[in-house]
Amino acid sequence: MADGLRKGLTSYGDAGFSLFLRKAFIKAMGYSDDALNRPIVGITNTYSDYNPCHGNVPQIIEAVKRGVMLSGAMPMVFPTISIAESFAYPTSMYLRNLMAMDTEEMIRAQPMDAVVVIGGCDKTLPAQIMAAVSADLPTVVIPVGPMVVGHHRGEVLGACTDCRRLWAKYRAGEIDENEIEAVNGRLAPSVGTCMVMGTASTMACITEALGLSLPMSATIPAPHAERFRSAEASGRVAAEMAKAKGPRPSEILTPASFRNAQVVMQAIGGSTNGLIHLTAIAHRSPHKIDLETFDRLGREVPVLVDLKPSGEHYMEHFHHAGGVPKLMAQLGDLIDLDAKTITGQTLRDVVAGAEDVPGQDAIRPRDNPIKAEGAMAVLHGNLAPRGAVIKQSAASPKLLQHTGRAVVFESVEDMTLRVDDPDLDVNADDVLVLRNAGPKGAPGMPEAGYLPIPKKLARGGTKDMVRISDARMSGTAFGTIVLHITPESAVGGPLALVKNGDMIRLDVSKRSIDLLVDEAELEKRRAALAPAVTPDWAKRGYAHLFNETILQADEGCDFNFMRGQGGE
Ligand code: FES
Repeated sequence: MADGLRKGLTSYGDAGFSLFLRKAFIKAMGYSDDALNRPIVGITNTYSDYNPCHGNVPQIIEAVKRGVMLSGAMPMVFPTISIAESFAYPTSMYLRNLMAMDTEEMIRAQPMDAVVVIGGCDKTLPAQIMAAVSADLPTVVIPVGPMVVGHHRGEVLGACTDCRRLWAKYRAGEIDENEIEAVNGRLAPSVGTCMVMGTASTMACITEALGLSLPMSATIPAPHAERFRSAEASGRVAAEMAKAKGPRPSEILTPASFRNAQVVMQAIGGSTNGLIHLTAIAHRSPHKIDLETFDRLGREVPVLVDLKPSGEHYMEHFHHAGGVPKLMAQLGDLIDLDAKTITGQTLRDVVAGAEDVPGQDAIRPRDNPIKAEGAMAVLHGNLAPRGAVIKQSAASPKLLQHTGRAVVFESVEDMTLRVDDPDLDVNADDVLVLRNAGPKGAPGMPEAGYLPIPKKLARGGTKDMVRISDARMSGTAFGTIVLHITPESAVGGPLALVKNGDMIRLDVSKRSIDLLVDEAELEKRRAALAPAVTPDWAKRGYAHLFNETILQADEGCDFNFMRGQGGE
């Protein structure tokens, strides 16, 4: 197969002319024949003025280019879509698959022998990895790295666990307007991704566990010099992969590597979003993520990383404690150390190089875990026939077995309008229910599963309630929150049948979530549901594609035709 500049020639019916033309035009950039005859490493540029989490991408790119050139290959940078959490309407999840398609097609369309994909803010790493797995070109993944921590009145602050905690205090009247404004300027003190164990950190850690990025690359803070040395080293590795034509993602990603990723996700107290993204990545390959297996692993794997929101520390502390290599060393036989990585080393080599940091307490030993069980549990029951997820490590232990009266919100808008209504019939023992917030219903499965505690209860001191929905939740949030109820209500899932006053029983030890209404009554309600029609927002364009082909959470919310085998 052709390589370098000769790959994938534009079709003019004369291959010689196509190459002649390509070289003529690219020489306009000042490249020499020597440069153009080298193996090519493509580098995705996910910088955007709208994406502060990716603020260090220009510096990362410079470092990668340096590494590529020091190893005798030719770097070529190209743009892809960039998605920032708080700048994506209606949600970043709605755009993840668009970014994955963009990146995949640009990797295929342009000549390159290897590619370095750079991502970080929640949906960008999964999108770029999904693309890389589908394109199956030798790939190095570089996370942009976490922000450093902020400080406020002697307290350490982290986006966005503390954004939510302090906003809840403001809602409850415990802090005033001036203080919340001061906090606003201190929550994100540098470029980089959220520095708690949110989705960005989760995805960076499991990328490292999958063997797709260099050791320690998940945790090095975004502004640190080490981040750019790691990027330079990533460039060198990519250049060697371009010359060797491998390894490709299909040679790295095996059932063992996906199992390792799930073990790490449980042990770090990972974000529930990570499960959806890992499922989508696996579905791009011949492998699968099975919710039952994931739950079983959760019973065996303790949470060892002491990071917010499950614990106390932040990503830079995890890094200084030895990062993912040290965590995998502590996990011992729970990790398959024969799994390969992009450098040609196995995880056994990576773990052998893990640093021993005396006195660190961010990565616990297995005999002294943060939680004896993993971060997440998978629930089933008549409310969630295809599953639901709860991040039990960030929930209130006393609410993990709870039966309460349903208080139902029809949509995110309905919830926003009514949740603080002083006349809302709600008390602290009730179960807040949000529906029509799933992949198709909202659309884009907003992170609305963290329903706010109704103001009148928050002011009375209620800190947590059982909240259930077909939505997602930010990995940075805390609470007893059941998410990803599948199938979602917009496609006729049982969540659509719940009425105010119904009793709902959550029992995490039994892995169950049930609506305590008899089957005959549920059947009557099901028959009365209005038939699904194409909503106005989905009449054209990307929205139409999204609405017609989006899969449910248990299948990773990819488009049905983008899975490994394609088609339905
Ligand atoms: Fe970008 Fe949190 S907002 S990672």
